[in-house]
Amino acid sequence: MKQSTQKRLKRTAIIAAIALVIGAGIGFMEARKEVTNKVRSHKVAGISLGGDFTLVNHKGVTVTQDNYAGKYKLIFFGFTSCPMVCPVELQKITTALTSIQSTNPEVLEKIQPLFITTDPERDTPEVMSEYVDMFHAKIIGLTGSSEQVQEVIQAYRIYAQKAEVEAGNDPMDYDMDHSAYTYLMSPDNELISIYRMEDTADYIAGDVLGKL
Ligand code: NI
Repeated sequence: MKQSTQKRLKRTAIIAAIALVIGAGIGFMEARKEVTNKVRSHKVAGISLGGDFTLVNHKGVTVTQDNYAGKYKLIFFGFTSCPMVCPVELQKITTALTSIQSTNPEVLEKIQPLFITTDPERDTPEVMSEYVDMFHAKIIGLTGSSEQVQEVIQAYRIYAQKAEVEAGNDPMDYDMDHSAYTYLMSPDNELISIYRMEDTADYIAGDVLGKL
């Protein structure tokens, strides 16, 4: 592994740890305020997105949607060099999964969390493997060829765009703008819920437990 990659992963681990502490703090405060997330509900009726895909998992094995047949899928799009948003979001998903696990382990059994990269150029299966290792053990990282990734991004209506690299900088050291939605899909691959950045781990866990 390149040294820059190691540095990046180390930074991500630190951000994820910070996110965990902040997340726990927010969870505590919200519990004190007795915030009921149940009154909030994102309307997803009528939105159809998703579709079959062919991608490569973090163990280097080619997979399709059918590999996760019968499972509810919690799908998040991002990339491993993301400085801030992705580690925080993945930490949040990890916290939600841990909370679901402790509340009702049978529900967790029904879920397959998937982290799909928007940056297949840098996110090889090896890089994905190192990255998902820092989060919940159930999370599978998916990458693929540019075409395969482009196809799944479009199917899930994700916006992902490479940012311009300033002249003189390493062309591989680019940032990426991307939408940060997490989708809950049914075993029949129907959209059940969309989670946004402002949704807490508690909200996600509560919504999943209420719907599965
Ligand atoms: Ni990101």
